[in-house]
Amino acid sequence: MSLYRRDLLSLADLTAGEITQLLTLAQHLQDHPQPQLLTGKTLGLFFRKASTRTRVSFLTAMYQLGGQTIDLNPSAVQMGRGELVSDTARVLSSYLDVLVVRTFAHSELEEFAHHSTIPVINALTDQEHPCQVLADLLTIQQYWGVLTGMKLVYLGDGNNVAYSLLLGGVLMGMEVCLSTPQGYELPPAALDLAYQLNPQAKITLEPDPRQAVAGAGVLYTDVWTSMGQEEEATARQRAFHGFTLDEALLALADPKAIVLHCLPAHRGEEITHEVLEGPQSQVWTQAANRLHAQKALLAALLVPGF
Ligand code: CP
Ligand code: NVA
Repeated sequence: MSLYRRDLLSLADLTAGEITQLLTLAQHLQDHPQPQLLTGKTLGLFFRKASTRTRVSFLTAMYQLGGQTIDLNPSAVQMGRGELVSDTARVLSSYLDVLVVRTFAHSELEEFAHHSTIPVINALTDQEHPCQVLADLLTIQQYWGVLTGMKLVYLGDGNNVAYSLLLGGVLMGMEVCLSTPQGYELPPAALDLAYQLNPQAKITLEPDPRQAVAGAGVLYTDVWTSMGQEEEATARQRAFHGFTLDEALLALADPKAIVLHCLPAHRGEEITHEVLEGPQSQVWTQAANRLHAQKALLAALLVPGF
């Protein structure tokens, strides 16, 4: 693997082999802490949206690997007063070693990457959330011991998390079933890209969640209203009726199936309290794995030969 000095804007930027090596490295760094690995390195966090897990796990990952983070609150830097992305990216590249961006338009992230000479990491855009899915794949692999051939069912909104999950799933040879209500499917470009990444990809679209979950080893859901869509919340609650991941739906999956949710969760909407806190939920391990997966990513991007 040589991810050294590369960007991670999409899971499509990685090969299956690179993902496998990142997951192995994540497990290694979890078992064998390396407190000096990133000594002298600085990460910049530019976030236009709220974040608990991604923000804190990147900060902690840098700290535990010996590096440091600068929190670039958009309203505290000159971009909040109109400085261009291109100028900001060029200047930040001369101070920082890596830039982590959470924003709305995916094109803004691409613009940061285009004008930066340091690696740029997607910490969530309206289109994709690749760091989340690295932790998700790690969680599935830790539980099942394998990814290839597993049936992964995603229930709910065809959003940024679903997009990255589809790409990550097909890259790793998983069978991906997407169960989304009419009008809330993933864009055709996501499916085209998935087949481009794996021409043998097994993807099914099943709008009936009860049919979708049959035989699933992994059930995944996310909020019905993502950040930036708050005005659509009422209409979305109506459209997603029947998509709540509850005990009745879970009972139709493989009896050993695990439940994942990237969090934050809205109990009683996309998932019930009972399922989120139930014995099949791996949600808290999944959240903890954000730290380990991102440590691996930072090591691979910032240390030659890692
Ligand atoms: N799952 C996730 O990315 O959470 P945050 O929005 O809290 O970072
Ligand atoms: N789809 C959600 C994910 C949050 C981590 C959102 O974009 O708000």
